[in-house]
Order: sequence, then C-alpha cells, then structure tokens
Amino acid sequence: MNNIVMLQPDRLLEPQQLMHVKHRNLSGRYQLENILGIGGMNVVYRATDNMLQTFGTSHQHVAVKMVSESLRDNLQAEKLLFNEYVLASRLKHPNIVAIRHFDVCREQEQAYLVMDWVEGLLLEELFYQQTIDVHSALELARQLVNAVHFCHQHQIVHGDLKLANIIVSPSNHLTLIDFGISRHISEKQNGIQTIRACSHRFAAPEVIQEEETTLSTDIFSLSCVLYRLFAGEHPFPDTAEEAMTQARIVPFIFGKRHPLDKLLQIGLRWNKHARVVTSFDFHELFQTLKPEDLKRRWF
Ligand SMILES: Nc1ncnc2c1ncn2[C@@H]1O[C@H](COP(=O)(O)OP(=O)(O)O)[C@@H](O)[C@H]1O
Ligand SMILES: [Mg+2]
Repeated sequence: MNNIVMLQPDRLLEPQQLMHVKHRNLSGRYQLENILGIGGMNVVYRATDNMLQTFGTSHQHVAVKMVSESLRDNLQAEKLLFNEYVLASRLKHPNIVAIRHFDVCREQEQAYLVMDWVEGLLLEELFYQQTIDVHSALELARQLVNAVHFCHQHQIVHGDLKLANIIVSPSNHLTLIDFGISRHISEKQNGIQTIRACSHRFAAPEVIQEEETTLSTDIFSLSCVLYRLFAGEHPFPDTAEEAMTQARIVPFIFGKRHPLDKLLQIGLRWNKHARVVTSFDFHELFQTLKPEDLKRRWF
C-alpha cells in the first residue's frame, strides 16, 4: 500500500538543542546527530553507530533514547528506561521497534537505550497533514492490532498507546514505539506518578485515576486510535478528564451491526470490567476485514 504521500518531518533541530549532552559521543561508539523527537520524559536522537560504520553495514543509523535534562537526576526515570529495555527486547515483531542495546556512558554519566531508527512520521503528524483513505487506514489498523496482540500474547501491557507513539513509514509500514511505561502483567506497576504526568486523550479512565494498568487499558487506547483512524475524529470530546464527567455516547462509525463498531463500543467502555473484548477479537476481525466492508452501512 503506497498511497500515503510522506512529507519531510520538520524535526531536525538546531545544534544548540544538542547542548544538554556534554559531548556528542556516547561510549566512543554512538555519534549523536539530531533530535528525532521529545516525549514526556525522554529525548530521542538519531545517531551513527561507529561500530556498524567500521564493519561496512549499510544501516549505520540508530535511535538513542535518554532521559530529558529536566529529569536527569530522577532515578525513577532511568529505571523506566531500563524497564523499557527489558520488556521491549522480548518483543521481536515487524510492527514493534527493535531494541538493540542499553548502556551507561561513564564519561557523561548517562544511561541510554539504543534501538532501530524508524523513518517516517508519527501517526499524529500524518493526521495533521492529510486525510487517510480507507485502504491505508485498514492497512495501518491491521498492523497496529497485530503489534498490540503480540504484546498481549507476551502478557505485556504497552500502557501508552497513542498517535505520538506510532510511526508510519513512506511505504505505510507501521511501527509501535515507546514501551517506557509498559509492564508485564505479573509484575507490580512501576511509575504511576509518571503516567499521571503524561495523561492524554487516549488514556483509559483507570490510568487517570492512577490505578494499575491492565491489558484492558490497552484495549481502550487501541479502540480510541482505531476509532480515530476510521471515523476521522476522536471518540470522546475534549480531554479524557472532561469526558469522564459527560454523557459518553460514542457515535457508530458504520452502523450498530457492523462488526468493527460492535468491538469499538465494548472497547471504549468506561468501566474496565465491562470492556470484555481482547486483542484476539480485534486480531481475528482484522484478518478478514476488507476495504469494501468499510464502505457499507450496517443498519
Ligand atoms: N526508534 C525511533 N525512530 C525514530 N524516531 C523515534 C524513535 N523512538 C522515538 N522516536 C521519536 O521520539 C519521540 C519520543 O520518543 P518516546 O519513546 O515516545 O519518548 P517518551 O517515552 O518520552 O514519550 C517519539 O514521539 C518519536 O517522534
Ligand atoms: Mg512517547
């Protein structure tokens, strides 16, 4: 599916924005080049891997993630980065960012996570730039559902599914990134305060209420992203906090008997115990859903 026209992301920042790293070199191996993005807690650089360069590999670029300057003395933030390394390293899937390495640069006293550099735009940026046609939306949805289903099969809650954590390449390949607040469902939640600080429109109500995340938390956020993809707008008005106090009737996209609408209506339920659909249900549906199914009205 090549019908998404990519525009150049305007994310190459000025050299002074690299100033907060004392040197551009980490551990004598990674040469930081430019900022790829800044998230709630971390900054991600594109870097050249000297080792790959030396051995003549064609892919010399990697992405290096480290805690932002303002959180540099916060041990919790670095622990989350390590947690991301541990969990995301287990997930080898074509639609999940490949994690390479975690290390501490002694010279700079800086922990960092190295992963594949994913070329493309955030899904958030893509929405701003163009309308996504139904073929592309279906292709993207299928890849996202595959990625989330894979996480859930490994008992891992992503915890932060949203448009800014999804990268789409020029050939419409989707990559899920940012496992910074993920958790294995058998392990205790780590960093609820951080999640609160990062609350956003795609967060399930239990996240805003600072409860532990579960697989059902991802189902809510996944449903929000899918709704956004097919309806062209967010399922709830304003911020999640405001939506909590309002009547929350989510309009059907295709009709009340449409299988996708049926799943989304359950996935978007406010009460996490009533969200009785799983990633398997989404996975199964998207295996068979065709573009023509998304044009019909299902009364
Ligand atoms: N592997 C990557 N390749 C390219 N860009 C990336 C990569 N990882 C992150 N980014 C960019 O950096 C931003 C912040 O990264 P993210 O992991 O989401 O940090 P945070 O945990 O602070 O939210 C992303 O929104 C994206 O723009
Ligand atoms: Mg992020």
